[in-house]
Amino acid sequence: MTKKDLSGFRPETKLALAGRDHDRSEGAVNPAVHRASTLIIPEVEGLYGDAKRTYALDGMAIHEALKEALIAVEGGAGVTLSSSGLMACVLPILAFARDKAEVLMVDSVYGPTRRFAGRMLKRLGIKTRYYDPMIGAGIGDLITEKTCAVFMESPGSLTFEVQDVPAIVAAAQAREVPTIIDNTWSAGVYFKPFEHGVDVSIQALTKYQAGHSDLLMGATLSRTHETAEKIRWAAKEMGVGTGPDDAYLALRGMRTMAARLAQQSASALRIAEWLKARPEVARVLHPAFADCPGHANWKRDFSGASGLFAFVLRAVDEKAVTRMLEGYCVMAMGFSWGGFESLITPSDLSLQRTAVPWRAEGPLIRLSVGLEHPDDLIGDLEAGFGRLAGA
Ligand SMILES: Cc1ncc(COP(=O)(O)O)c(C=O)c1O
Repeated sequence: MTKKDLSGFRPETKLALAGRDHDRSEGAVNPAVHRASTLIIPEVEGLYGDAKRTYALDGMAIHEALKEALIAVEGGAGVTLSSSGLMACVLPILAFARDKAEVLMVDSVYGPTRRFAGRMLKRLGIKTRYYDPMIGAGIGDLITEKTCAVFMESPGSLTFEVQDVPAIVAAAQAREVPTIIDNTWSAGVYFKPFEHGVDVSIQALTKYQAGHSDLLMGATLSRTHETAEKIRWAAKEMGVGTGPDDAYLALRGMRTMAARLAQQSASALRIAEWLKARPEVARVLHPAFADCPGHANWKRDFSGASGLFAFVLRAVDEKAVTRMLEGYCVMAMGFSWGGFESLITPSDLSLQRTAVPWRAEGPLIRLSVGLEHPDDLIGDLEAGFGRLAGA
């Protein structure tokens, strides 16, 4: 899809160059934004048939440019864009679903993906079976003739278990079952699912690609042309698409994503190390730490870590935690991540695990580290621990 061959370049260079087609932009650095529903087709012959784009829901030049950039970074044969990261998760499941089938889903999956499985998929007669994030090759024992897909999320975006993707893919491929991974944490930069044979990779572009907490969008990338077509058609049948302005913003975000990721990654690691030494903290859940479940998989398969991790407090009074959380000056509470601003969010996992019970010493707190100076964030966290202690 990309006109220039960018495959030899590093991610920073790919992010600067991809999708910049001179003809498409009339000479401007950035592609044009066409606000369109209707496309004028001058000839009767062009009205019907699959060959040409006939309606703007199929995407305009800006969507093509964004897709080229996504493929340049992560690889794959095709991308479908959607209105949210959640839709990007749902889409491949629906594309692979069939009557009375079963989906194998990792127990640490993003909550709304789990909710979709428990409500909508269930209503459609499709069962979901949850598996231990650390299952590895053991997934083979759960695959039956009913299995229509294995869904992974690695690391889990609340508890950060890193899955053994190559082992899971090998077991699934042996039974010809497609594999899907929510790869949002790595932003497509630090982990390359297609190099491990995964069929579908999901990016919630809302997070690092957008980077500024001002848009919602998802991308479903496919390893093969055949899978890409299957997903493109599922999206077409359901009327899934995105507006041009959001696509423009997502692509603009990608231009600076490498620099943001590098800073957020370094700050997050520094803050995680500081938290590890705090007496209030029982555990830090960061894939780069040796005690994180699946750390060896992270070390083997990833080239870095993004800015999202969590820590578990020692058992503590709930009111004290509320006092701690409500008093931050630099950070704020909110459910997303990957933006320029740091977010801190408590989480109640007790209802969200069925394969392996979640056991923790105290409350789990998730941090999305932004672009603020890490010393200011550490100061903010330190003041919070003061409030936790009742000061
Ligand atoms: C791991 C993961 N996947 C997907 C999504 C969904 O993205 P969106 O908010 O764009 O629906 C999120 C959102 O928080 C997420 O954390």
